[in-house]
Amino acid sequence: MRADDTPLIRLEDYRPSDWLIDTVDLDIRLDPHKTKVRALLALRPNPAGDGGAPLVLDGDDLALAGIALDGTPLAQDAYSATPGSLTVHAPPARGFTLTIETVLAPSANTKLMGLYRSSNVYCTQCEADGFRRITYFLDRPDVMSVYTVRLEAKKSDAPVLLSNGNLVAAGEVAGSDRHFAVWHDPHPKPAYLFALVGGALDHVREDYVTADGRKVELAVYVEPGKAGRAGWAMDSLVRCMRWDERVFGRNYDLEMFNVVAVSDFNMGAMENKGLNIFNDKYVLADPQTATDGDYASIEAIIAHEYFHNWTGNRITCRDWFQLCLKEGLTVFRDQEFSADERSRPVKRIADVRTLRATQFSEDAGPLAHPVRPRAYKEINNFYTPTVYEKGAEVIRMLKVLIGEDAFRTGMDLYFIRCDGTAATIEEFLACFAEASGRDLGHFARWYEQAGTPTIVASGRYDAQAKSYTLDLAQTTPATPGQTDKQPVVLPVVIGLVGKAGDLPLKTASEAYAGDGLIVLDRASLSVTFDDVPEPPIPSLLRGFSAPVRLELDLADADLLRLLSSDSDSFNCWQALQSVATRALVAAGRGDGATLAARADDIAGALGPFLRSQALADPAFAAQVLRLPAIADIAREIGRDVDPDAIHTAHRALSAAVGTNLRATLLELREALDTGQRYSPDAASAGRRALRNEALGLIAIAEPAAGARLAERQFAAADNLTDRLAALAAMTLIPGEDREALIARFGDIYRGEPLVLDKWLMAQALIAEHGTLDRVKGLMQHPAFSLGNPNRVRSLIGGFAANLTQFNRPDGAGYLFIADMVIALDRTNPQIASRLLGSFKSWRMLEPGRKALAETALAMVAQTPNLSRDVADIAERALA
Ligand code: TRP
Ligand code: ZN
Repeated sequence: MRADDTPLIRLEDYRPSDWLIDTVDLDIRLDPHKTKVRALLALRPNPAGDGGAPLVLDGDDLALAGIALDGTPLAQDAYSATPGSLTVHAPPARGFTLTIETVLAPSANTKLMGLYRSSNVYCTQCEADGFRRITYFLDRPDVMSVYTVRLEAKKSDAPVLLSNGNLVAAGEVAGSDRHFAVWHDPHPKPAYLFALVGGALDHVREDYVTADGRKVELAVYVEPGKAGRAGWAMDSLVRCMRWDERVFGRNYDLEMFNVVAVSDFNMGAMENKGLNIFNDKYVLADPQTATDGDYASIEAIIAHEYFHNWTGNRITCRDWFQLCLKEGLTVFRDQEFSADERSRPVKRIADVRTLRATQFSEDAGPLAHPVRPRAYKEINNFYTPTVYEKGAEVIRMLKVLIGEDAFRTGMDLYFIRCDGTAATIEEFLACFAEASGRDLGHFARWYEQAGTPTIVASGRYDAQAKSYTLDLAQTTPATPGQTDKQPVVLPVVIGLVGKAGDLPLKTASEAYAGDGLIVLDRASLSVTFDDVPEPPIPSLLRGFSAPVRLELDLADADLLRLLSSDSDSFNCWQALQSVATRALVAAGRGDGATLAARADDIAGALGPFLRSQALADPAFAAQVLRLPAIADIAREIGRDVDPDAIHTAHRALSAAVGTNLRATLLELREALDTGQRYSPDAASAGRRALRNEALGLIAIAEPAAGARLAERQFAAADNLTDRLAALAAMTLIPGEDREALIARFGDIYRGEPLVLDKWLMAQALIAEHGTLDRVKGLMQHPAFSLGNPNRVRSLIGGFAANLTQFNRPDGAGYLFIADMVIALDRTNPQIASRLLGSFKSWRMLEPGRKALAETALAMVAQTPNLSRDVADIAERALA
């Protein structure tokens, strides 16, 4: 399919369904090649729809095996069926039932959408439109039904049979080697939340009692033999359930809650009602096979999917344009949970790093789109950082603007008013307008307008009047299809930092809302603060109060003073990042003259900071020590980007800082080595993070010493975090020792696919010319498979994220990824189209690379029989 032949689906064309489906009874006989599905649908005309309309059900790759209306088989001319739809020409204008039979081949399903097999486990993925690959249906989120599901399978083939809701019956099928289970979910839900699982699985379980006294059986199901790695996921589940009760007053609403880990999965996890299905990477953890980062992501994703039970499931989306209604809000909720469980400032810094790396780069390129898109060809291409991460930022701004109390009141109102419905952003915002008594009409522009706003700020101190005036202006760059940008409502939280800390903020300005909050809701404004006793250093956008770029005209020396004197931790961190960014941007543009001097300044500020504060908060210090990523610098430069120049500057800055701080870094590494057994708690993880950040700098500054340190750490480590960090440090140092450690690592973790993923990725990220050949070689490794999304993301996706090698000046990196996209598209279009997204920043490259990237993109676009997923990305990337 070519993208330009695909119809564009538009928000403004939304119409309620002509038909509703009140109940769905599914009878599914599982078989790898011939799964029989019988669906009994109770239909009725939608009072809000068009009564006399024909009934058109969605399908995808389906074959109809039988159809009956109110129990009577339909005559041939009463309906027409294709793989993509089933039409009943003249349905009765009243309630009736439809029985539909389809036959599926889960083993042949490589798209991992609908019903498929993942290493001998039957499982489903229905969001966004996978249910139509199981049976013909009104596959849209505003059609909500009560499901009863009978599953049957050979006992030896699938001893465990799970679906949504509560188990109501189970038993043997008399006189056969088969058994069955019946599940009933009393909560009406859209088809995208349907799920089933069948297979041989081990589990851990735990009893839970909700705050409102309901007993719940929790279970985490994993591959046989891996139950020992399910404990952390269960622990995280219990903690996030308590948190949602405490912080949002939300209780769980079924007798059972099941989590299942599968090894072939297109994304992170899925919030199916009462039956969350996970990529096993986000469930399985023990100290030998998971890093601190994995423990943190498991905690966050378990929480994310659980939180969807209220924000997504109980209240779902009217249509897919409202995707951020559930995703942005649920990301916000999981970020808050992690912040409460761990360190709030460190979590905020990590989230902002992700936002900038993924969302800012999306917003700056051809794939930019609003948080609520207005049109799409393929909805699966809109599960993006903009919908998820920027969507969460919008909720965070709303909270800052209306205050904590009104925010909680608005959420309560939303849960009461919209429960059981398929809602819209407008309905959501109305709850907060009511709770706060404010007009949120202007704020709503955040959902419509794409692009990352820039705030240009400057300040003036008037020594005579003892006043300080802050000038703020905002602009948003043009994005595809949106050239005319309007000002948005920007909460700018500020402080004025004096010699002894924050100065009191006194002003008559209407833009000042108190508590440090300036509301910049027009193109520009000035705020004058009175009774300012000394010239302050402005600390703007505290806590990163709005998802914007900030251009602040402040000397390096003043910024570096904030590192030790700002009361806002985020801005302490940001201060050093800003100075490093300036240095790297200049050098990346070919002006390396100031790099050495700036490296000295940075090290000069870092040294005292580390010596006085690092041991008190190692996790935070690790964040401070980590320089901005090469991609961040590329985006700041914005045009004619030469990734090699940035990389060279980045290495030079790291080397200079590492050399300058050598003694301090080594002392810290000693002091942080507690010699205790591994524990995944945040404090221990923080100590490891700082030790390993230091190791990385030493490896760059003094390769020989760094290599010895890495080898020793690898040998002594009792956990994967330290081993992987040692490997990563070693990959920075070319030579035989590196190759030996890579080989050893591969050997030790031979039987651990998830650990080998990290090993593949570490090699794919080596910033050297030989990496492309290395990656091609690794594709032949027995651990690699193009059929498994995690393997592809690690090796191929890792290479595409390797800025200097993907962007090789000879174009070989582009051609390799284009070839992979084309190959993957034949089996798994979602994975192929995500990989093609690696080209999203191609337009900012220098002319030589830009032309080569365009050629590779065009080669993809011109390939016959592309999926809609890949065709859509190719078309938009080239537009
Ligand atoms: N709704 C899921 C989440 O954010 C993600 C999701 C959407 C997904 N589509 C998917 C997961 C397809 C796997 C496959 O939690
Ligand atoms: Zn989600």
